[in-house]
Amino acid sequence: MTLIEGHRPIEPPQGVAVWDIDPYDTAILTDPTDYYHELRARGPLVYIPKYQILCCGRYAEIKTIFNDWERFVSSRGVGLQDFKLDEPWRPPSIILEADPPDHTKTRTVMARAMSPRAVNQLKEFFQSTANDMVDRLLLLDSFDAVYDLAEAFPTTVFPEAVGLREVNRQHLIDYGAMVFNALGPDNALRQRSLAMGPDIVPWLTEQCRRENLKPEGLGSTIYASADNGDITEEEAGMLVRSLLSAGVDTTVTGIGSALWVLATHPEEFEKLKADPSLARPAFEETLRYTSPVHTFCRTANLDTDISGVRIQEGTKIICSLGAANLDEEHWPNADHFDINRRPTGHLALGTGIHGCVGQNIARAEAEAVLTAIALKVDKIQSMGDAIWRPNNSIHGLDSFPIKFT
Ligand code: HEM
Repeated sequence: MTLIEGHRPIEPPQGVAVWDIDPYDTAILTDPTDYYHELRARGPLVYIPKYQILCCGRYAEIKTIFNDWERFVSSRGVGLQDFKLDEPWRPPSIILEADPPDHTKTRTVMARAMSPRAVNQLKEFFQSTANDMVDRLLLLDSFDAVYDLAEAFPTTVFPEAVGLREVNRQHLIDYGAMVFNALGPDNALRQRSLAMGPDIVPWLTEQCRRENLKPEGLGSTIYASADNGDITEEEAGMLVRSLLSAGVDTTVTGIGSALWVLATHPEEFEKLKADPSLARPAFEETLRYTSPVHTFCRTANLDTDISGVRIQEGTKIICSLGAANLDEEHWPNADHFDINRRPTGHLALGTGIHGCVGQNIARAEAEAVLTAIALKVDKIQSMGDAIWRPNNSIHGLDSFPIKFT
């Protein structure tokens, strides 16, 4: 059988709109709003001839798919490749790319390590680091919202929280980009990212070893689960790798996008300044409005149907979380950024059994940065164009010159 991008190609199911477009085109990855709109408008599921695959952009269907892990599995990969048919570029994640009962075991260990209590203990450190960074940035005539803050903050606090002894900021960023680009087709983005593997993967693997982790960090908590017999030592190393794969680019993107929306919506920034306790809802609305992870896939593990569409076993479905989070059928005034909205149920952190296990940390990081800005900055002034960085699964900024006054 000839595979396309590592999955079995399918014929368009009856009644499904055929749309000749490449969702991984750089123009769409950098500016996806029109694509999201049309994807939803064309139907609950759309057939994409280039990859002979289904694609979904509506809130209701994506929610159904993500909440039904028995029909729509993750163990066959959450990108275009079907791990049952094609070998993945690295050993699969034992949490993200696993189904119950294997998933239940690793998920329990990770949820324990990142419990609300564990995250509460990090909050003071996050806040003081954010305060210092914002104080320093206030002294500059202008700076890059991405390099100087959105990347600088998570790559300072997160390795410390995990307990890494050695920090290589660029390796952490590039590894995250690699993991997320690898979920897409074998385009130039994926190839360029994977070409960095030989430089980065051995370094990263080394940092995940028990002896390279400080005893008080999240990494060591995960290894303690190996001592309890809940997981093996090797699985503990794999879970620390999952922290580093999923915990850097995502928060960098979320914080960068928050700076962009606040700079481009000064009236919303005024609301945040008037009431800094809105930092958390402002971040939730940023997540809904910008969807840092724009896409994850699922694979149908049996013949089934969704919204009346027949789906064959082995069908890959590209689920556009970005489109679902702007679905007018679900969100009144969906295209409007409003920090007073309480966007409960947004899909930016996923939903169902794979819903982001690091969400408490992500929220704590973003809240610290937004609180510091709300308390210390009068105005966020845009000093140039926002440039977006294409990635097969992440929608985030590459650079955005701004000034704090
Ligand atoms: C704004 C920041 C973040 C966003 C937007 C985000 C987004 C997501 C999404 C959409 C999923 C669901 C994946 C799926 O259903 O296939 C997920 C899962 C996951 N996230 Fe996050 N994430 C963020 C931060 C973090 C952080 C800080 C960590 C680590 C500390 C983390 C670790 C994970 C892991 C390990 C999973 C897999 C969970 C499972 O399969 O049970 N994430 N994340």
